[in-house]
Amino acid sequence: MRSALVFGGSGQIGQPLIQRLRAGGWHVTALSRSPQRGDARLRWLSGGFEAMPPLPAQFDAIISAGPLDHFAGWYAGGGVATPRVVAFGSTSLDTKRGSGDPAERGLAGRLKQGEDSVFTTAASRGEAATLLRPTLVYGRGRDASLSRIAALARRTGVFPLPRGARGLRQPVHVEDLADAALACLDAPATHGRAYALPGGETLPYREMVARVLACLQPPARLVELPAPLFAAALWLARRTGRASELGDAAIDRMRQDLVFDAAPAARDFGYAPRPFRPQRAIFARD
Ligand SMILES: NC(=O)c1ccc[n+]([C@@H]2O[C@H](COP(=O)([O-])OP(=O)(O)OC[C@H]3O[C@@H](n4cnc5c(N)ncnc54)[C@H](OP(=O)(O)O)[C@@H]3O)[C@@H](O)[C@H]2O)c1
Repeated sequence: MRSALVFGGSGQIGQPLIQRLRAGGWHVTALSRSPQRGDARLRWLSGGFEAMPPLPAQFDAIISAGPLDHFAGWYAGGGVATPRVVAFGSTSLDTKRGSGDPAERGLAGRLKQGEDSVFTTAASRGEAATLLRPTLVYGRGRDASLSRIAALARRTGVFPLPRGARGLRQPVHVEDLADAALACLDAPATHGRAYALPGGETLPYREMVARVLACLQPPARLVELPAPLFAAALWLARRTGRASELGDAAIDRMRQDLVFDAAPAARDFGYAPRPFRPQRAIFARD
């Protein structure tokens, strides 16, 4: 039985990943800072990157579905040997690199440094690393984008967008990401490479939001506002703490196409993500 060490196993990507590893006959050791329930094939260790518990010296694979910068630091520090590393990063590495928001540029920089560090460490140890960069993630009702939109729309019955919010998006389902990580493990073509993992459909931002609103019960209404009116509504929402994390850079990006090519991932490990068909159950937990 092969052994895997999983970081971020309690997360929205990590959970379906662990399910798949177990179904594939792996013995999984996973870390969490919160209590989790394990069994004979899934051992949860209590801790995180700031307080690492003692770990076995070797695994057949290490997978990170948690914060990449923390993982890269831990991996560079050594201590656990493995022939195979698969780590999630983000396409924010590209999309936020030139952002007007310093915090977003900082995130892009940390993602780039994290990727570089993982590849450098792996090369120095003769281990094989693969980096996976999802686009906009959805599927477990815990993401910070579509699930937040759904939660707000359910409370108010409407969701406002600025006119022209038609930049292209490729929302990707967490289960397709979990499949991708699993498929990579046994795909030698992926060694030393990074892959964008977009969803299986490319659609305008407005249409993406409209599909989320349409699947709510009752459905919520999309309202497109002229730029000055939207700015006023946003100012009010920020004043009342309802849109504190929606920065101007994020609003600008609604008009920008953020499109990535799935062909390298399809070629190297059979990546075949589903089209964007959100179901009400996804957002039921908000
Ligand atoms: N969400 C998105 O839209 C999106 C988009 C692109 C890329 N990604 C990337 O995909 C990966 C997984 O994202 P996700 O949305 O599945 O994450 P998530 O649901 O927010 O879960 C985060 C996971 O990381 C773990 N974690 C956080 N801080 C940690 C620390 N200091 N030490 C140890 N573990 C820590 C958490 O473990 P515990 O809390 O149990 O300790 C949890 O399992 C991340 O690399 C993220 O950057 C996400």
